[in-house]
Amino acid sequence: MQIVHSIAELRHALRHTTRPSFVPTMGNLHAGHLALVEQAKPLGDATVASIFVNRLQFLPHEDFDSYPRTFGDDSQKLEVAGCDVLFAPREKDLYPEPQVFKVQPDPVLADLLEGEFRPGFFTGVATVVMKLFMAVFAGKAHGTAVFGKKDYQQLMVIRHMVRQFALPIDIVGHEIERAADGLALSSRNGYLSAADRSQALQLPQALQVLALEAATASTAQLLKLEAAAMQNLAALGWQPDYLTVRRRSDLQPPQAGDGAGDLVALGAARIGATRLIDNLEI
Ligand code: PAF
Repeated sequence: MQIVHSIAELRHALRHTTRPSFVPTMGNLHAGHLALVEQAKPLGDATVASIFVNRLQFLPHEDFDSYPRTFGDDSQKLEVAGCDVLFAPREKDLYPEPQVFKVQPDPVLADLLEGEFRPGFFTGVATVVMKLFMAVFAGKAHGTAVFGKKDYQQLMVIRHMVRQFALPIDIVGHEIERAADGLALSSRNGYLSAADRSQALQLPQALQVLALEAATASTAQLLKLEAAAMQNLAALGWQPDYLTVRRRSDLQPPQAGDGAGDLVALGAARIGATRLIDNLEI
């Protein structure tokens, strides 16, 4: 596996590649990331992963400084996974000057759920993903990028961006990878104390209950079920941001006629100091 830091080095490493497949990450890799690499491998003629902790997508009070940076471990894991090129830009490679041009996602999609609780998050994500796409795919006939479905809204924002800019890139969503007990794998699980980890399953369990109830509920009943799910989780010591059932197509509240196959239950909540997100397609 070649490790490159600058965009010029990356383009040189990919000079004979016509259809790269790409997995963007912020590092601190776990089995979920490696599953993305596994999925990406047959989809192109070289597999590229990136590691870059993108300050643009963190709010000032969030964990940009403390976000785990585990480059040695990560590069070993990627090598074993069969990644061909690891692009690990430094701050000066991606942001040599303050990034004043930004990719502004549609607020109708990006200002709700995660966007409501993390204002500006999706602008930061879309901007860095566009830069990473330009670094990896510029001049290529075609490409594929693989994203995890745990960040459900992020995947939708990226798909919308690719469609609107007519980028010649297929976006592939990978099912959520879970620990044996069902907790969605996340770099932020590493923040959980033993006590918080033993409670962490309550979030996916709450989503499962909500998803089951939603399958037969009217839209009016659904609001009450969501409120009850938030209260129940709060009673267990969580601080829920949202627990909600939305349409998969646009993340808006379901309308009469939406049913199984159309919906997704999404949740975000804080246990101790750790904020977890999860979702379940219905
Ligand atoms: O999902 C992530 O890890 C990040 O949001 C991404 C897509 C690598 C952009 O920084």
